[in-house]
Formats: sequence, structure tokens, C-alpha cells
Amino acid sequence: MMLLRSAAVSSSATAANVRLTAATHSSRTPRRTTNINSLSVKAKYAISNEDLESRGFLLRRTAADLDLDQLNAVFVRVGFPRRDPERIKVALDHTSSLLWVQDKRSGWPVAFARATGDGVFNAIIWDVVVDPSFQGIGLGKAVIERLVDEILEQGIVNIALYSEPRVLGFYRPLGFVADPDGIRGMVFSRRNKK
Ligand SMILES: CC(C)(COP(=O)(O)OP(=O)(O)OC[C@H]1O[C@@H](n2cnc3c(N)ncnc32)[C@H](O)[C@@H]1OP(=O)(O)O)[C@@H](O)C(=O)NCCC(=O)NCCS
Repeated sequence: MMLLRSAAVSSSATAANVRLTAATHSSRTPRRTTNINSLSVKAKYAISNEDLESRGFLLRRTAADLDLDQLNAVFVRVGFPRRDPERIKVALDHTSSLLWVQDKRSGWPVAFARATGDGVFNAIIWDVVVDPSFQGIGLGKAVIERLVDEILEQGIVNIALYSEPRVLGFYRPLGFVADPDGIRGMVFSRRNKK
């Protein structure tokens, strides 16, 4: 499991961390100023919403127009197991923050991530996917940057996720650290009991 670096430190460091992360990407454009625990944080993204739109992508923040069969197809294309759309719907109903990118030309979802949480202390990011045809052009980063931002805006400082080893290098520059202070994730899974 990886945790956002700020999880282990104070909320003031959280804000500093967001600024530091943003400062390393000179091409970013300011988007908005938000208040997190009385601290002003200038959020900047590697690709602005306007750039995304001019490249043919729409940023969506609710599941209202999300076709679950299409989303399932994207999951399958990246190697995730196909899931019952009814159960995906239940999962999305219990999701606190959700972001997806729609390809304007086809209408299909091409990038997706969601987070569950307690609304106060902790959030966990799940189902981070970018359609293979659209990988490597910044959509994954665009989605995670904004999802993290949305979670931080709720005042939550612990943001965790499960990362496959080959994807650790994607999450690290976004502020996530593996095993912070030696803390290891443990999972109870019915699969492990068999
Ligand atoms: C992992 C994934 C979400 C990345 O999305 P993406 O849109 O291809 O990534 P981006 O184009 O936004 O890349 C952002 C940065 O991360 C880097 N990056 C992307 N994938 C990486 C990886 N697997 N390892 C290391 N760095 C990676 C890019 O080089 C880029 O670097 P830059 O900012 O210096 O240019 C996508 O490849 C994917 O869906 N993979 C299959 C599903 C999966 O593994 N999901 C995660 C489950 S834990």
C-alpha cells in the first residue's frame, strides 16, 4: 500500500507538499486557490482543464453519464477482471470522489479513478485505469492530481492506495510513498483463506 506523503506529517506540510509538487512542473498553469485548514494552496495541474478539452477530452466528476459496460471494457483491456455492472454500480454509489475522462469523439471513458473514505480522516483510491490506446499522454496523472486535490479539499490528509510494483514509479512523483515509516499494508481477503 502507498500513502500520500502528507499522511505522516502535519496538515501544514500537506499544503507545502502540494505546492512543492506543483513547483516541479513548470508547464502547469494555475487553476484555483483553495483553503485547506486555513492554509492557502495554489493547485496546479500538469495539464489544465482547457488543454484537456482542446485535446478532445472532457473531465467528468460524477458517474451520471458513465456507461458501466464501457468502463468494464476499459478495466478488461488493462487486465483487471471483468466485473458485474450491477456490483460496479453499488461500488460507485459508495464512492466519495470519482473522476473520469471522456473521449469527446467516441464518448467512451478513457481514464478513470475513484476514492472511498470516511469523509474526515482517510481515503483510499481504487480502480485507476487509462485505456491502453490513451496511455502515456498524461491522462493518468491528470486524473490522480485532481482526485488527490478533491480529497485534500475535504480536509482529509491520509490518502492510501494499492499499487502494483510496476506502477510505483507512476505514483511516486505524485507524492505517494511506499511503506512510510516502515508501515506495511495488510489485507484480509477471502481469496487468501482458500
Ligand atoms: C498506470 C496508468 C494509470 C498510468 O496512466 P498514464 O496515463 O499512462 O500515465 P501518464 O501519461 O499520466 O504518466 C504520467 C507520468 O508517469 C509516468 N509513468 C506512467 N506509467 C508509469 C509506470 N508504470 N512506471 C513509472 N512511471 C510511469 C510517465 O512517464 C509520466 O512521467 P512524466 O510526468 O515525467 O512525463 C496506466 O498506465 C494504466 O492504466 N495502467 C494499467 C492499469 C494499472 O496498472 N493501474 C494501476 C493499478 S495499481
